[in-house]
Amino acid sequence: MTKKIAFFDSGIGGLTVLHTALQQFPEESYLYYADTLHVPYGTKPADEVRRYIFACVEAIVREQVDAIVIACNTATSLAVNDLRSMYDIPIIGMEPAVKPAVEMNRDNGKRVLVFATALTLSQTKYNELVSRVDDEHRVDSLALPELVEWCEQLEFDPVKITAYFRSKLAGLDLEQYGTVVMGCTHYPFYTAILRKVLPDHIRIVDGSVGTVSHLSQRLELGAQKQAGNTGRVQAGNVSFFSSSGRTEGHNKMRAALQYLSDNVL
Ligand code: SIN
Repeated sequence: MTKKIAFFDSGIGGLTVLHTALQQFPEESYLYYADTLHVPYGTKPADEVRRYIFACVEAIVREQVDAIVIACNTATSLAVNDLRSMYDIPIIGMEPAVKPAVEMNRDNGKRVLVFATALTLSQTKYNELVSRVDDEHRVDSLALPELVEWCEQLEFDPVKITAYFRSKLAGLDLEQYGTVVMGCTHYPFYTAILRKVLPDHIRIVDGSVGTVSHLSQRLELGAQKQAGNTGRVQAGNVSFFSSSGRTEGHNKMRAALQYLSDNVL
């Protein structure tokens, strides 16, 4: 039987995770909820953001969904454990792909660079993850707040974004790095541009595939007819919701999902 699966984010970032789910499980029914009244989360105080998250998840649960994906690294680090104790349905969170990134570089001595919001990087959940897996102290981090802001404006100009990445990375010796982790779900909108800025030897990873795999295990989703290797997805079985309830916001989400379908690596 078709499952009704909700994806939640502060804004449109979680569409990068929904996009992965749509590619692998196109036959399920999806609900996407963005907290358009309060985006961005990553630059606000933790207690305030937790209140927003609880209100949004309560609204999503009223839609009788089978599972909720907290498709936002910031929201996951602030609230996923509490949400799991509050509701009976599976609540799947994001985890920055730090562990696989450290493993990828185990033998080559290269460092790992994690991009995430300042709020995610300040949380115990993230710092415990790094302490657990980074036994050789080779993980560095960098917040890229402008990317969330620009993503929400559907600003994908490659010249502007390339210059931004170059300026943020200017102080780093990129030869030392083996992997960049996209630890905010907004950032993969810019993976194709980042790919052209980074030296070829640096791999770029994000948590979407791991999260969708976890979701499919929890809901026992079977293999489904996929879109082939074109990567294009159909947004027809996605219903869009937001805290503001405004149609413009829903149209923006549709446009952003289309952008991912057309441009994602
Ligand atoms: C943000 O709202 O600042 C981005 C949230 C995230 O995906 O970590």
